[in-house]
Amino acid sequence: MVIGVLASGRGSNLQAILDAIRLGTLVAKVGIVISDKKDAMALARARSSNVPGVFLDPKAYPGREAYDAALVSLLATHKVELVVLAGFMRVVTRALIEPYKNRIINIHPSLLPAFPGLHAQRQALAHGVKISGCTVHFVDEQVDHGPIIAQVASPVEPEDTESSLSDRILAEEHRLLPQVIQQFAEGKLGRLPV
Ligand code: GRF
Repeated sequence: MVIGVLASGRGSNLQAILDAIRLGTLVAKVGIVISDKKDAMALARARSSNVPGVFLDPKAYPGREAYDAALVSLLATHKVELVVLAGFMRVVTRALIEPYKNRIINIHPSLLPAFPGLHAQRQALAHGVKISGCTVHFVDEQVDHGPIIAQVASPVEPEDTESSLSDRILAEEHRLLPQVIQQFAEGKLGRLPV
């Protein structure tokens, strides 16, 4: 199965996918990594693993739909079957969701539907929750919304800072995301006809 990963920043979840493929726990190939940020570390990580890493500049398109249409055409050129949003900091539109319906997943650092959007770990601390975690879900047109596939809970400790909580959750993200992709590859999550 060919995966396309969209990432805006650090790319540690991309790295977890690449590592799982190298270890053989994930049987798939990353066909392309696309970023909306020229200097995203995710692009460097892709290139270090001999995966094409492409910067697609949002400023080159008149709007979000046009940008997403360009994404689709790049993904299709690389024969991508599953799109993984791994820290992709853009709201996606129908132009991407329709062609890849039920074949786009996102990872988010909270137990959705709690704390969608930015700074999920900060939101969790501000609300005083005692348990947070991470969620992988199919993507629809709302932010951090759509059918939930899998979640892992992480405790929130009294002495936690945003950084310590983020680290604890991130370690779980790195385990969960490759597992979910493998389940998808095995046809265990359901797939709409293309
Ligand atoms: C992760 O916490 C992910 O859940 C969220 O953005 C962060 C991306 O981190 N959507 P990285 O770029 O994969 O290191």
